[in-house]
Amino acid sequence: MALLVVVAVARDRDQGPPAPALPGTPLRELAGERRIGTAVRGDVLEGTRAYREIVGTQFSAVTPENEMKWAFVEPERGDVDLEPADRIVRAAGKAGQEVRGHTLVWFFQVPPWVERLKGAELRDAVLGHVQRMVGHYGDGIPVWDVVNEAIADDGQLRDSVFLREMGPGYIEDVFRLVRQLTPKARLYINEIGADGINPKSDKLLEIARDLKGKGLLDGVGLQSHFNLKGIPDGYEENLRRFAELGLEIAITEADVGIGLPATPDKLAHQARVYRRIVRACVTQPACKGITFWGFSDRWSWISETQPGQGAATLLGDDLRPKPAFRAVQRALRG
Ligand code: XIL
Repeated sequence: MALLVVVAVARDRDQGPPAPALPGTPLRELAGERRIGTAVRGDVLEGTRAYREIVGTQFSAVTPENEMKWAFVEPERGDVDLEPADRIVRAAGKAGQEVRGHTLVWFFQVPPWVERLKGAELRDAVLGHVQRMVGHYGDGIPVWDVVNEAIADDGQLRDSVFLREMGPGYIEDVFRLVRQLTPKARLYINEIGADGINPKSDKLLEIARDLKGKGLLDGVGLQSHFNLKGIPDGYEENLRRFAELGLEIAITEADVGIGLPATPDKLAHQARVYRRIVRACVTQPACKGITFWGFSDRWSWISETQPGQGAATLLGDDLRPKPAFRAVQRALRG
Protein backbone atom coordinates (compact mmCIF):
# COMPACT_ATOMS: atom_id res chain seq x y z
CA MET A 1 0.00 0.00 0.00
CA ALA A 2 2.70 2.44 1.10
CA LEU A 3 4.61 1.57 -2.03
CA LEU A 4 1.59 2.30 -4.19
CA VAL A 5 1.21 5.73 -2.60
CA VAL A 6 4.89 6.49 -3.20
CA VAL A 7 4.57 5.44 -6.83
CA ALA A 8 1.43 7.54 -7.28
CA VAL A 9 3.05 10.61 -5.74
CA ALA A 10 6.17 10.18 -7.88
CA ARG A 11 4.06 9.86 -11.02
CA ASP A 12 2.16 12.97 -10.09
CA ARG A 13 5.37 14.89 -9.65
CA ASP A 14 6.53 13.78 -13.12
CA GLN A 15 3.31 15.16 -14.47
CA GLY A 16 4.08 18.62 -13.09
CA PRO A 17 1.78 21.18 -11.46
CA PRO A 18 -1.84 21.81 -12.42
CA ALA A 19 -2.58 24.42 -15.08
CA PRO A 20 -2.76 28.05 -13.99
CA ALA A 21 -6.39 29.21 -14.11
CA LEU A 22 -7.13 30.95 -17.39
CA PRO A 23 -9.41 33.98 -17.15
CA GLY A 24 -12.90 34.10 -18.63
CA THR A 25 -15.08 31.60 -20.43
CA PRO A 26 -13.28 28.69 -22.11
CA LEU A 27 -12.71 29.17 -25.84
CA ARG A 28 -14.73 26.08 -26.65
CA GLU A 29 -17.80 27.62 -25.05
CA LEU A 30 -17.26 31.02 -26.62
CA ALA A 31 -16.99 29.40 -30.05
CA GLY A 32 -20.58 28.15 -30.00
CA GLU A 33 -21.30 25.99 -33.05
CA ARG A 34 -17.80 26.36 -34.42
CA ARG A 35 -15.02 24.03 -33.45
CA ILE A 36 -12.07 25.51 -31.70
CA GLY A 37 -9.07 23.25 -31.89
CA THR A 38 -5.41 22.87 -31.19
CA ALA A 39 -2.60 20.71 -32.50
CA VAL A 40 -1.54 18.31 -29.76
CA ARG A 41 1.59 16.32 -29.01
CA GLY A 42 0.85 12.88 -27.63
CA ASP A 43 3.90 12.68 -25.37
CA VAL A 44 3.18 16.05 -23.78
CA LEU A 45 -0.51 15.26 -23.46
CA GLU A 46 0.32 12.14 -21.51
CA GLY A 47 3.23 13.47 -19.50
CA THR A 48 2.16 16.98 -18.53
CA ARG A 49 -0.86 17.56 -16.39
CA ALA A 50 -1.20 21.31 -17.05
CA TYR A 51 -1.06 20.83 -20.82
CA ARG A 52 -3.71 18.09 -20.64
CA GLU A 53 -5.99 20.23 -18.49
CA ILE A 54 -5.85 23.18 -20.88
CA VAL A 55 -6.43 21.00 -23.94
CA GLY A 56 -9.48 19.50 -22.24
CA THR A 57 -11.04 22.69 -20.95
CA GLN A 58 -10.33 25.16 -23.76
CA PHE A 59 -10.69 23.15 -26.98
CA SER A 60 -13.42 21.16 -28.72
CA ALA A 61 -11.16 19.66 -31.39
CA VAL A 62 -7.61 18.36 -31.64
CA THR A 63 -5.23 17.62 -34.50
CA PRO A 64 -2.34 15.24 -33.83
CA GLU A 65 0.66 17.42 -34.64
CA ASN A 66 2.78 14.57 -36.04
CA GLU A 67 1.46 11.21 -34.87
CA MET A 68 -0.63 10.36 -37.95
CA LYS A 69 1.97 11.34 -40.52
CA TRP A 70 3.33 8.55 -42.66
CA ALA A 71 6.94 8.91 -41.48
CA PHE A 72 5.73 8.59 -37.92
CA VAL A 73 3.31 5.70 -38.53
CA GLU A 74 5.54 3.55 -40.75
CA PRO A 75 9.18 4.70 -40.57
CA GLU A 76 10.38 1.38 -42.02
CA ARG A 77 8.30 -0.56 -44.50
CA GLY A 78 5.82 -2.77 -42.63
CA ASP A 79 6.87 -1.45 -39.23
CA VAL A 80 3.52 0.16 -38.43
CA ASP A 81 2.70 1.79 -35.09
CA LEU A 82 -0.61 3.55 -34.65
CA GLU A 83 -0.58 3.37 -30.87
CA PRO A 84 0.62 6.99 -30.28
CA ALA A 85 -2.12 8.28 -32.58
CA ASP A 86 -4.68 5.96 -30.99
CA ARG A 87 -3.86 7.33 -27.55
CA ILE A 88 -4.60 10.86 -28.76
CA VAL A 89 -7.88 9.68 -30.29
CA ARG A 90 -8.89 7.98 -27.04
CA ALA A 91 -8.04 11.04 -24.94
CA ALA A 92 -10.04 13.22 -27.33
CA GLY A 93 -13.01 10.87 -27.03
CA LYS A 94 -12.97 11.25 -23.26
CA ALA A 95 -12.77 15.04 -23.55
CA GLY A 96 -15.65 15.17 -26.05
CA GLN A 97 -13.40 16.48 -28.81
CA GLU A 98 -13.45 15.98 -32.55
CA VAL A 99 -10.20 14.63 -34.01
CA ARG A 100 -8.98 16.04 -37.29
CA GLY A 101 -7.08 13.35 -39.17
CA HIS A 102 -3.82 14.91 -40.31
CA THR A 103 -2.71 14.00 -42.87
CA LEU A 104 -2.90 11.20 -45.46
CA VAL A 105 -0.83 12.42 -48.40
CA TRP A 106 1.83 15.08 -47.91
CA PHE A 107 5.19 15.60 -49.63
CA PHE A 108 6.93 16.17 -46.26
CA GLN A 109 7.46 13.69 -43.41
CA VAL A 110 7.29 10.85 -45.93
CA PRO A 111 9.38 7.86 -44.84
CA PRO A 112 12.62 7.50 -46.85
CA TRP A 113 11.63 4.05 -48.15
CA VAL A 114 8.57 5.58 -49.84
CA GLU A 115 10.65 8.26 -51.57
CA ARG A 116 12.57 5.47 -53.32
CA LEU A 117 9.54 3.66 -54.78
CA LYS A 118 8.64 3.86 -58.47
CA GLY A 119 5.51 3.55 -60.58
CA ALA A 120 2.97 0.93 -59.56
CA GLU A 121 4.85 0.11 -56.39
CA LEU A 122 4.59 3.69 -55.15
CA ARG A 123 0.93 3.83 -56.10
CA ASP A 124 0.15 0.62 -54.22
CA ALA A 125 2.03 1.87 -51.18
CA VAL A 126 0.17 5.19 -51.13
CA LEU A 127 -3.26 3.65 -51.57
CA GLY A 128 -2.35 0.96 -49.03
CA HIS A 129 -1.32 3.59 -46.49
CA VAL A 130 -4.55 5.52 -47.01
CA GLN A 131 -6.57 2.34 -46.68
CA ARG A 132 -4.80 1.38 -43.48
CA MET A 133 -5.30 4.79 -41.86
CA VAL A 134 -8.90 5.34 -42.84
CA GLY A 135 -9.81 1.70 -42.25
CA HIS A 136 -8.28 1.75 -38.79
CA TYR A 137 -10.22 4.78 -37.59
CA GLY A 138 -13.46 4.41 -39.49
CA ASP A 139 -16.09 6.78 -38.12
CA GLY A 140 -13.74 7.65 -35.22
CA ILE A 141 -12.27 10.36 -37.43
CA PRO A 142 -15.05 12.49 -38.88
CA VAL A 143 -12.79 14.91 -40.77
CA TRP A 144 -9.59 14.31 -42.73
CA ASP A 145 -6.92 16.53 -44.23
CA VAL A 146 -6.72 14.12 -47.16
CA VAL A 147 -4.10 15.89 -49.24
CA ASN A 148 -1.81 18.49 -47.72
CA GLU A 149 0.27 21.20 -49.40
CA ALA A 150 -0.04 19.88 -52.96
CA ILE A 151 0.61 23.23 -54.65
CA ALA A 152 3.81 25.26 -55.14
CA ASP A 153 3.98 29.04 -54.66
CA ASP A 154 3.89 29.62 -58.43
CA GLY A 155 0.53 27.86 -58.70
CA GLN A 156 1.85 24.64 -60.28
CA LEU A 157 1.37 21.30 -58.57
CA ARG A 158 4.19 20.86 -56.10
CA ASP A 159 6.96 18.45 -57.04
CA SER A 160 6.72 15.28 -54.93
CA VAL A 161 7.17 11.55 -55.26
CA PHE A 162 3.36 11.35 -55.64
CA LEU A 163 3.25 13.75 -58.58
CA ARG A 164 6.28 12.16 -60.25
CA GLU A 165 5.17 8.55 -59.91
CA MET A 166 1.36 8.78 -60.01
CA GLY A 167 0.90 11.85 -62.19
CA PRO A 168 -1.37 14.84 -61.47
CA GLY A 169 -4.36 12.53 -61.06
CA TYR A 170 -3.02 11.35 -57.70
CA ILE A 171 -5.07 13.95 -55.82
CA GLU A 172 -8.36 12.79 -57.25
CA ASP A 173 -7.42 9.11 -56.88
CA VAL A 174 -6.72 9.55 -53.19
CA PHE A 175 -9.89 11.54 -52.53
CA ARG A 176 -11.94 8.93 -54.39
CA LEU A 177 -10.53 6.15 -52.26
CA VAL A 178 -11.08 8.00 -48.99
CA ARG A 179 -14.64 8.88 -49.96
CA GLN A 180 -15.33 5.23 -50.68
CA LEU A 181 -13.78 4.04 -47.42
CA THR A 182 -15.43 6.57 -45.11
CA PRO A 183 -18.48 8.05 -46.83
CA LYS A 184 -19.63 10.01 -43.77
CA ALA A 185 -16.35 11.81 -43.10
CA ARG A 186 -15.79 15.38 -44.26
CA LEU A 187 -12.88 15.44 -46.66
CA TYR A 188 -10.61 18.46 -46.84
CA ILE A 189 -7.77 19.63 -48.98
CA ASN A 190 -5.37 21.57 -46.77
CA GLU A 191 -2.88 24.19 -47.91
CA ILE A 192 -0.14 26.47 -46.61
CA GLY A 193 0.36 29.97 -48.03
CA ALA A 194 -2.98 29.91 -49.87
CA ASP A 195 -4.60 32.10 -47.22
CA GLY A 196 -4.76 35.30 -49.26
CA ILE A 197 -5.42 35.73 -52.95
CA ASN A 198 -2.36 34.57 -54.89
CA PRO A 199 -1.33 32.04 -57.58
CA LYS A 200 -1.39 29.23 -55.03
CA SER A 201 -4.90 29.91 -53.81
CA ASP A 202 -6.06 30.42 -57.42
CA LYS A 203 -4.85 26.91 -58.19
CA LEU A 204 -6.40 25.58 -54.97
CA LEU A 205 -9.71 27.08 -56.03
CA GLU A 206 -9.46 25.35 -59.40
CA ILE A 207 -8.69 21.96 -57.80
CA ALA A 208 -11.39 22.44 -55.17
CA ARG A 209 -14.00 23.30 -57.79
CA ASP A 210 -13.14 20.20 -59.78
CA LEU A 211 -13.17 17.84 -56.77
CA LYS A 212 -16.35 19.37 -55.40
CA GLY A 213 -18.02 18.92 -58.81
CA LYS A 214 -17.15 15.22 -58.62
CA GLY A 215 -18.59 14.91 -55.11
CA LEU A 216 -15.20 14.16 -53.60
CA LEU A 217 -14.50 17.26 -51.49
CA ASP A 218 -16.27 18.88 -48.52
CA GLY A 219 -13.89 21.52 -47.33
CA VAL A 220 -10.78 23.61 -47.71
CA GLY A 221 -8.29 24.06 -44.91
CA LEU A 222 -6.33 27.29 -44.86
CA GLN A 223 -3.43 26.75 -42.50
CA SER A 224 -2.91 30.42 -41.66
CA HIS A 225 0.67 30.35 -40.42
CA PHE A 226 1.31 34.07 -40.11
CA ASN A 227 3.78 36.48 -38.54
CA LEU A 228 3.90 40.19 -37.75
CA LYS A 229 3.90 41.07 -41.43
CA GLY A 230 0.21 40.50 -40.83
CA ILE A 231 -2.60 38.93 -42.75
CA PRO A 232 -2.01 38.46 -46.50
CA ASP A 233 -4.07 40.51 -48.94
CA GLY A 234 -7.56 39.25 -49.60
CA TYR A 235 -7.83 36.83 -46.67
CA GLU A 236 -11.54 37.40 -46.07
CA GLU A 237 -12.24 37.56 -49.79
CA ASN A 238 -10.39 34.29 -50.29
CA LEU A 239 -12.55 32.58 -47.67
CA ARG A 240 -15.58 33.95 -49.48
CA ARG A 241 -14.62 32.54 -52.87
CA PHE A 242 -14.23 29.04 -51.44
CA ALA A 243 -17.51 29.39 -49.58
CA GLU A 244 -19.18 30.32 -52.86
CA LEU A 245 -18.26 26.89 -54.21
CA GLY A 246 -20.48 25.45 -51.50
CA LEU A 247 -17.51 24.18 -49.52
CA GLU A 248 -16.80 24.32 -45.80
CA ILE A 249 -13.72 26.20 -44.70
CA ALA A 250 -11.53 25.62 -41.70
CA ILE A 251 -8.60 27.58 -40.38
CA THR A 252 -6.43 24.57 -39.64
CA GLU A 253 -3.06 25.64 -38.22
CA ALA A 254 -3.14 29.23 -37.07
CA ASP A 255 -0.14 30.76 -35.37
CA VAL A 256 1.60 34.13 -35.50
CA GLY A 257 5.38 34.07 -35.23
CA ILE A 258 7.27 36.97 -33.67
CA GLY A 259 10.91 37.98 -34.25
CA LEU A 260 12.49 37.46 -30.84
CA PRO A 261 12.65 39.03 -28.35
CA ALA A 262 8.89 39.50 -27.99
CA THR A 263 8.28 43.03 -26.69
CA PRO A 264 4.94 44.36 -25.37
CA ASP A 265 4.45 46.20 -28.67
CA LYS A 266 5.01 43.05 -30.69
CA LEU A 267 2.66 41.07 -28.46
CA ALA A 268 -0.04 43.71 -28.94
CA HIS A 269 0.50 43.57 -32.69
CA GLN A 270 0.32 39.78 -32.57
CA ALA A 271 -2.99 40.00 -30.70
CA ARG A 272 -4.41 42.12 -33.55
CA VAL A 273 -3.34 39.53 -36.13
CA TYR A 274 -5.00 36.76 -34.10
CA ARG A 275 -8.11 38.86 -33.77
CA ARG A 276 -8.39 39.20 -37.54
CA ILE A 277 -7.95 35.47 -38.10
CA VAL A 278 -10.77 34.71 -35.69
CA ARG A 279 -13.05 37.45 -37.05
CA ALA A 280 -12.49 36.21 -40.62
CA CYS A 281 -13.85 32.83 -39.55
CA VAL A 282 -16.71 33.91 -37.31
CA THR A 283 -18.06 36.34 -39.89
CA GLN A 284 -18.05 33.66 -42.61
CA PRO A 285 -20.88 31.13 -42.19
CA ALA A 286 -18.99 28.48 -44.18
CA CYS A 287 -16.08 28.63 -41.73
CA LYS A 288 -16.69 25.73 -39.37
CA GLY A 289 -13.69 25.95 -37.12
CA ILE A 290 -10.35 27.37 -36.14
CA THR A 291 -7.45 25.22 -35.03
CA PHE A 292 -4.33 26.76 -33.52
CA TRP A 293 -1.03 25.03 -34.21
CA GLY A 294 -0.33 24.58 -30.53
CA PHE A 295 -1.39 26.85 -27.70
CA SER A 296 1.77 27.43 -25.67
CA ASP A 297 5.07 28.96 -26.75
CA ARG A 298 6.78 26.15 -24.88
CA TRP A 299 5.59 23.60 -27.47
CA SER A 300 5.48 25.37 -30.81
CA TRP A 301 7.06 24.36 -34.10
CA ILE A 302 7.84 28.03 -34.84
CA SER A 303 10.35 28.28 -31.98
CA GLU A 304 11.68 24.85 -32.87
CA THR A 305 12.14 25.26 -36.62
CA GLN A 306 12.45 28.98 -37.43
CA PRO A 307 15.61 30.49 -35.99
CA GLY A 308 15.00 33.89 -34.38
CA GLN A 309 11.21 33.43 -34.50
CA GLY A 310 9.01 32.29 -31.65
CA ALA A 311 6.35 33.31 -29.16
CA ALA A 312 3.83 32.33 -31.83
CA THR A 313 0.93 31.04 -29.72
CA LEU A 314 -1.77 32.25 -27.32
CA LEU A 315 -0.08 31.33 -24.04
CA GLY A 316 3.45 31.86 -22.80
CA ASP A 317 6.00 29.19 -21.88
CA ASP A 318 4.43 29.28 -18.42
CA LEU A 319 0.93 28.68 -19.84
CA ARG A 320 -0.18 32.14 -18.80
CA PRO A 321 -2.30 34.15 -21.23
CA LYS A 322 -0.68 36.58 -23.65
CA PRO A 323 -2.60 39.52 -25.14
CA ALA A 324 -3.41 37.20 -28.07
CA PHE A 325 -5.44 34.90 -25.79
CA ARG A 326 -7.70 37.71 -24.66
CA ALA A 327 -7.97 38.99 -28.22
CA VAL A 328 -9.18 35.58 -29.35
CA GLN A 329 -11.73 35.48 -26.53
CA ARG A 330 -13.04 38.90 -27.51
CA ALA A 331 -13.09 38.05 -31.20
CA LEU A 332 -15.13 34.91 -30.54
CA ARG A 333 -17.59 36.94 -28.51
CA GLY A 334 -18.09 39.33 -31.43
C1 XIL B 1 4.92 20.52 -38.37
C2 XIL B 1 5.04 20.11 -36.91
O1 XIL B 1 4.50 21.13 -36.12
C3 XIL B 1 6.49 19.87 -36.56
O2 XIL B 1 6.58 19.34 -35.25
C4 XIL B 1 7.13 18.91 -37.56
O3 XIL B 1 8.50 18.81 -37.30
C5 XIL B 1 6.92 19.40 -38.98
O4 XIL B 1 5.54 19.59 -39.22
N1 XIL B 1 2.07 22.34 -42.18
C6 XIL B 1 1.45 21.21 -41.71
C7 XIL B 1 1.86 20.65 -40.38
O5 XIL B 1 0.50 20.71 -42.32
O6 XIL B 1 1.72 19.26 -40.32
C8 XIL B 1 3.26 21.07 -40.03
O7 XIL B 1 3.55 20.60 -38.71
C9 XIL B 1 3.42 22.56 -40.13
C10 XIL B 1 3.16 23.02 -41.56
